[in-house]
Amino acid sequence: MTLLETTGLTLGYHGQAVVRGLHLSVDEGEIVALLGANGAGKTTTLLGLSGLVAAMSGDVLLDGRSLASVAPDERVRRGLAHVPEDRALFADLTVLENLQLGQHSRRRSVDDALDRCPELRPLLSRRAGLLSGGEQQMLAMARALAGKPRLLLVDEMSLGLAPLIVQRLLDMLDELAHASGCAVLLVEQHVQQALAVADRGYVLNRGEIALHGTVPVLRERSAQLEATYLGESVGGH
Ligand SMILES: Nc1ncnc2c1ncn2[C@@H]1O[C@H](COP(=O)(O)OP(=O)(O)OP(=O)(O)O)[C@@H](O)[C@H]1O
Ligand SMILES: [Mg+2]
Repeated sequence: MTLLETTGLTLGYHGQAVVRGLHLSVDEGEIVALLGANGAGKTTTLLGLSGLVAAMSGDVLLDGRSLASVAPDERVRRGLAHVPEDRALFADLTVLENLQLGQHSRRRSVDDALDRCPELRPLLSRRAGLLSGGEQQMLAMARALAGKPRLLLVDEMSLGLAPLIVQRLLDMLDELAHASGCAVLLVEQHVQQALAVADRGYVLNRGEIALHGTVPVLRERSAQLEATYLGESVGGH
């Protein structure tokens, strides 16, 4: 079932469009990768879905219903959770306090989130600012999960993290989507890592979708995929 859909969504800043005419969709239980080079418009797209950047034209539909006039906090209540690029944790608060501050987190759902991220249990009373980068990313993810999202938007979670912890986080998303039915829209610059867990993907090039399809289709067209990265290697990492 289609959970989220954008219809010709155009987003930008100060009247200047940076993402144009976006048509994308995410189904329940599926991981969709949103790929593209620096500045392609990935973060802007997620901000548009969360309602933090207003649409210049086009619309965002959740369950087929327009979110045009729905404020960011109400979008969260309807099941959208956003793990932003900078993680947005409260450095001076403890891990537990950060989890409890997640919108609509109940004790039970904090517990459920910790079941998915058991590494955080021994760290509950530690200040978030003292966690390692990987632990902070896991906390950001757990805080989003504590809101029991139906759609998780994840921006560049692998930035600056060691491959092992990235794999751990990807496995978590894999289970969240494919076993628990949550929809995930995953922004990544590391193409291979994203495609290893994703079902489908969209490649943004300068604010427009240059390529989209299932993961096997994207792999088949890796030459074109590579070209949209203007020389960035998609072979390794
Ligand atoms: N607040 C802002 N005001 C004006 N322009 C912005 C703002 N935020 C982003 N932009 C511009 O919008 C374009 C898309 O930026 P965006 O952050 O969405 O790209 P991205 O694909 O997430 O890049 P990266 O991979 O580097 O995170 C860029 O040209 C950027 O300079
Ligand atoms: Mg970005």
